Amino acid sequence: MARKKIALVGAGQIGGTMALVAAQKNLGDVVLIDIPMTQGMPKGKALDIMEGRSVINSSVDLQGSTDYAALKGADVVIVTAGFPRMPGMSRDDLLEKNCGVIKTVAEAIKEHAPEAFVIVITNPLDAMVYNMQKQSGLPSNKVIGMAGVLDSARLACFVADELGVSVEDVKALVLGGHGDTMVSIYESVSVGGIPLPQLMTKEKFAELAKRTAGAGGEIVNLLGRGSAFYSPATSAIHMAEAYLLDKKNVFSCAAKLNGEYGVKGLYCGVPVVVGANGVEKILEVKLTEEEKAAFNKSVEACKKNADWVDAHT
Ligand code: NAD
Ligand code: LAC
Repeated sequence: MARKKIALVGAGQIGGTMALVAAQKNLGDVVLIDIPMTQGMPKGKALDIMEGRSVINSSVDLQGSTDYAALKGADVVIVTAGFPRMPGMSRDDLLEKNCGVIKTVAEAIKEHAPEAFVIVITNPLDAMVYNMQKQSGLPSNKVIGMAGVLDSARLACFVADELGVSVEDVKALVLGGHGDTMVSIYESVSVGGIPLPQLMTKEKFAELAKRTAGAGGEIVNLLGRGSAFYSPATSAIHMAEAYLLDKKNVFSCAAKLNGEYGVKGLYCGVPVVVGANGVEKILEVKLTEEEKAAFNKSVEACKKNADWVDAHT
């Protein structure tokens, strides 16, 4: 069976890391795509990983290009094209700059890879994935945003550290927009199958939920330039793997709602099942009244940015 093709549009910090992770997993052939002004950078990163394949027992092919035609035949397209935030910036500060970038990339995907499963990473995430689906015209089950996998992993990390347990045994769920209004779901957290409320007070959980919502900014401030890229990269490849291997994994991601959670026509972070048909199901988790109110507030934040996209594209 021919190897799958993974196109990474944006060959920067996250794009380059995704290329390495995909190669380590032998997930498929990779093409790194960036803008012409980056000249040889995409090719250079691809060649660098190619040359190390014998060490990682990888036999995939990696190429680099500054031509969107390299998207042709891609099974999965993961988009980080755009600008990351710098210290002092919110993700929403990227709205205007990245909206135009995503429109350009969406048109290229529509032309060269209309059958692909598209995972958007570019911030502000919920608005950019909304923009991607709108401009590309691809079916909404084939266009999703990466945020919830990362945010849920961050929460799991903080819970595991607090309890002194292996993070491998902690499963968590963060819903809503990828920003300050994201919602960590207390009763969804499982520690080796034990519901978290049996092991941690709600007050302590609220502290960890607050840190989760600010985790991106914490790293931006520590790095001083750019934002998190290792965990976003591994999160996105996890999502691509669910599609490419028809794994039917359940995770939180930005999906287009069609009445679920009382929301229609908007992208927001919800639990979904991803397999060979893309988003195969949206799961409606029971929320407390407090969580429902917080989720609705987050939906409002997503709607505000989506309305901006509609008004400016
Ligand atoms: P980066 O600056 O290292 O990489 C972005 C790349 O996009 C650059 O190489 C740039 O040349 C390229 N690019 C710009 N315009 C392009 C175009 N029209 N076509 C193709 N490539 C283009 O940034 P990064 O750290 O990789 O982050 C990328 C994006 O992901 C940022 O918007 C960042 O805020 C976002 N991000 C999202 C999450 C999330 O959870 N969704 C997490 C981290 C970062
Ligand atoms: C950031 C990512 C996590 O901007 O969205 O830091």
